[in-house]
Amino acid sequence: MIELRNVSLSYGKSEVLENLNYTFNQKLTCIIGPNGSGKTTLLKLASAIIKPSKGEVLIDDINPWSSEDDVSLEVRRRVVYVHEKPTALRGTVWDNVAYGLKLRGLSRDEISSRVSEALEIMELKELAETTASELSAGQLQKVAIARAIAINPKYLLLDEPTAPLDYKSRRKLLQTIQQITRRGSSVIIATHTTGIARKLEAKILYIKDKTLRERHEPP
Ligand SMILES: Nc1ncnc2c1ncn2[C@@H]1O[C@H](COP(=O)(O)OP(=O)(O)OP(=O)(O)O)[C@@H](O)[C@H]1O
Ligand SMILES: [Mg+2]
Repeated sequence: MIELRNVSLSYGKSEVLENLNYTFNQKLTCIIGPNGSGKTTLLKLASAIIKPSKGEVLIDDINPWSSEDDVSLEVRRRVVYVHEKPTALRGTVWDNVAYGLKLRGLSRDEISSRVSEALEIMELKELAETTASELSAGQLQKVAIARAIAINPKYLLLDEPTAPLDYKSRRKLLQTIQQITRRGSSVIIATHTTGIARKLEAKILYIKDKTLRERHEPP
């Protein structure tokens, strides 16, 4: 479970989230909100990339900001955040997908089989030897998702994952997300429309007035 307790987040003097309390305990959750409402900020808080200005974030009951380095690293590795505009890492598509696995010290055989599987799922096999920096935005998004899938994290946080994807790739990704939850991961998706959330039959949350709400109230 990822839990936010009395979490506030300010960038300088500007407060984006205020006294937010929520426990993510569903297999599939979508966070809906307009541009600038704080979706990315919330996902980065939940994955311990940014530290709350106030309050605490607990990942499986552990606060990664106040635990021993080894405990903190282990708990952070349970959560993978896929950026809304992923950047290419050095090397080929294969290298990019293998990156997180190498960091985690997996064996060569294990890395090879996981990368192959992730490339297959994301329909990237033909691009395996392509230099990642030469990819289109949509292709790069798929590579970033493949990199995350290969890790098979307990929590997968996807920031606007379908934005650069074409219709067919979008449909495929929604199926893949369902597959991932069946495999055991919990998925949290940030998006600005309810379309994906409804198709996935996900738990829907709205960001409004610097906090998360379960219902959408008209302005
Ligand atoms: N690093 C930063 N420094 C200062 N302000 C920031 C920073 N990151 C985000 N903000 C501000 O915080 C607010 C929320 O930004 P955030 O990126 O979380 O919104 P979002 O809901 O993800 O928007 P979008 O739909 O455009 O992706 C915005 O007003 C933004 O300008
Ligand atoms: Mg965003």
